[in-house]
Amino acid sequence: MDMMIENKIAVITGAASGIGEATAKLLAKEGAKVIIGDVAQSAEAVVEEIKAVGGEALFVRCDVTDEKSVRNLMETATASYGRLDILVANAGIPEKKGPVHEMQLDDWQKVLNIDLNGVVLANKYAIQQMLKNGFGAIVNMGSILAHVGQVNSTAYSAAKAAVVNFSRSAAVTYATQGIRINCISPGYTETPLLAKLPEETKQAMIANHPIGRLGKPEEIAEAILFLVSDKASFITGTVLHVDGGYTAV
Ligand SMILES: NC(=O)c1ccc[n+]([C@@H]2O[C@H](COP(=O)([O-])OP(=O)(O)OC[C@H]3O[C@@H](n4cnc5c(N)ncnc54)[C@H](O)[C@@H]3O)[C@@H](O)[C@H]2O)c1
Repeated sequence: MDMMIENKIAVITGAASGIGEATAKLLAKEGAKVIIGDVAQSAEAVVEEIKAVGGEALFVRCDVTDEKSVRNLMETATASYGRLDILVANAGIPEKKGPVHEMQLDDWQKVLNIDLNGVVLANKYAIQQMLKNGFGAIVNMGSILAHVGQVNSTAYSAAKAAVVNFSRSAAVTYATQGIRINCISPGYTETPLLAKLPEETKQAMIANHPIGRLGKPEEIAEAILFLVSDKASFITGTVLHVDGGYTAV
């Protein structure tokens, strides 16, 4: 199926690994020119893999918590390719889990800074570029934990829930200006993050997904591709749950 994103200019944050990497590769395969913004230098290897199969990609070192760095990412995308069409604000970290009464403010702020403020800054500077051409499609990264609670997970849940409602308000703000903003909420997905977990923990996670397994990064990427493509031209301000039924029970 032609997803109609050929020659679209797409910035993806946190695409050195996991869901972001799978998304960068899929969007490039569909013909988009991909700009990866990540703190990890290993994003260069993703760029090389994309180029090796005939795609176009660029790595710009970016820390999503640093306003100047995020502005530079979006401005570099526009300077390199003439405009910015797509943003996938994906960069995120897990939290150090624990009960609220033992929480360290530094730990809380670190998660909020990357998982929420990083998304907001990416939207701010991407939208500035998108307004110039009157077109844009943004997907912000939520999580199942934006919608349901989990024992000892507070900063991450709070950040992701805020991303969801930030996305709704941003979506209605720019709805008449050609910019669509949506959110995606994956279930547990087999990224390097989860590979480190003990088998027992993994089995407990699987048990919470009615579909009977965890997600694959490529499955999340397919849903992101749909939302940023013109196939989703009437969809804005929504949340797509890609979670094997986790939040349906
Ligand atoms: N894996 C899951 O089960 C799962 C489930 C739901 C939501 N998510 C969300 O999906 C997103 C990607 O997760 P993943 O599992 O692919 O993780 P990952 O660790 O494989 O990838 C995260 C990427 O973000 C980058 N990053 C971290 N801090 C950054 C910063 N300050 N600036 C720029 N880049 C930064 C990392 O270098 C890495 O490349 C995250 O927002 C995560 O919360 C993941």
